[in-house]
Amino acid sequence: MDAIRIRGGNRLEGEIPISGAKNAALPLMIASLLTKDRLVLENVPRLADVNMLGRILGNHGVDMAIRGKRAGEHSGRGSVMTLHAETIADTTAPYELVSRMRASFWVLGPLLARCGEARVSMPGGCAIGTRPVDLHLMGLEALGAKIDVEAGYVVARAPSGLKGAHIAFPKVSVGATHNVLLAAVLANGETIIENAAREPEVGDLAECLIAMGGRIEGIGSSRLVVQGVASLHGATHAVLPDRIEAGTYAMAAAMTGGSVDLVGARGDQLEALIEVLGRAGVEATVTNTGLSVTRNGGKLRPVSVETSPYPGFATDLQAQLMALMTQADGISKITETIFENRFMHVQELVRLGANIALDGDTATVTGTDRLAGAQVMATDLRASVSLVIAALAAEGETVINRVYHLDRGFENIENKLGRCGADIERISI
Ligand code: EPZ
Repeated sequence: MDAIRIRGGNRLEGEIPISGAKNAALPLMIASLLTKDRLVLENVPRLADVNMLGRILGNHGVDMAIRGKRAGEHSGRGSVMTLHAETIADTTAPYELVSRMRASFWVLGPLLARCGEARVSMPGGCAIGTRPVDLHLMGLEALGAKIDVEAGYVVARAPSGLKGAHIAFPKVSVGATHNVLLAAVLANGETIIENAAREPEVGDLAECLIAMGGRIEGIGSSRLVVQGVASLHGATHAVLPDRIEAGTYAMAAAMTGGSVDLVGARGDQLEALIEVLGRAGVEATVTNTGLSVTRNGGKLRPVSVETSPYPGFATDLQAQLMALMTQADGISKITETIFENRFMHVQELVRLGANIALDGDTATVTGTDRLAGAQVMATDLRASVSLVIAALAAEGETVINRVYHLDRGFENIENKLGRCGADIERISI
């Protein structure tokens, strides 16, 4: 099994190319289910989750081809993926596949819209919280689907098609917004989604659906208005840059007192993080090529932060901020409001010498001068990368086990950090 070994203490200095966003690529790939034509996605990150979803879509009959980068192309440009769902071979998404990646539950809406029926396994447990799917089902029922749960599967039927509806989500959900959007584009009539997630990945999906012939207004707002169309056609769309990857490397640079240029990062989608970094004494500046992050000299200042839906501080950056705050000069408070159990990194950070106390949804981090390398392991993607950040500042050697979590969402992490001076390597243990 692979592990990552890091010897801490080096400053990060240089450029890091930001990959296409995992959490945009996944719903975009699923959008291919909505048309008989080819959907071409550019700037697709090379990640285990992308491969996994490819397998899941293959099971529904989607032909997928991936072209790597061409000579002379920027190394950060990702792959070009062509998805072709000429016919849907199977409207069932089985437990063996869905349980390995929750986002695959989002095939429910588009399969239902295109085929009038879908049978998708309930996703099951998750390391960061219970993560129910009630809002997805509520939205699809409002569009006229009849939904039953049979033997662990959601069975949705709309034999005479979906009908536009007014849907007001009681809570912001990225996945439920994706699922309903992916269904409403082919529904009969107008759908209004109130309290829609405003995450840039939702906007990216909406832009792609528009390129495919969909009619959607309100992108970037919490009120999406969709005029259903009879069919969608093929399109070419580039996946937006990964704001979570960019935010993660921004904090890695800050952790080492370094200076990096995050090439391709969208500063306008990282405003909450930039504000928090500023309070902590880290300068993050939007440049022509991306985002430049510098912490020269000075101690980090502690900050208090609550996660919230976009444009608030992202839950997907919470663990990384906690790692950073272990080095602040004072006490920070980090409150997780999105997922009830997203603190699995705390005990591992403590193994590296961090001083963190948990009380309900709030972690109190007392900055310490010294982290020391150790063997650690993580239970989810963002938790594992928080350990990488801590290890970059820890004395001695840290070995991070269960690297497959990292490979789900960070493309080439050891090369990207290594090229900026980190002492990091992938080892087999
Ligand atoms: C997406 O998950 C992301 N995943 C997550 O990133 C991210 O943490 C999350 O949004 C929040 O930003 C992908 O994009 C693939 P939600 P999603 O539905 O859609 C509750 C990562 O590391 N809820 O917005 O599953 C839910 O329990 C991952 O890349 C319901 O109550 O998240 C949570 O408390 C992890 N009922 C809140 O809403 C529902 O039907 C937000 O979840 C659906 C959700």
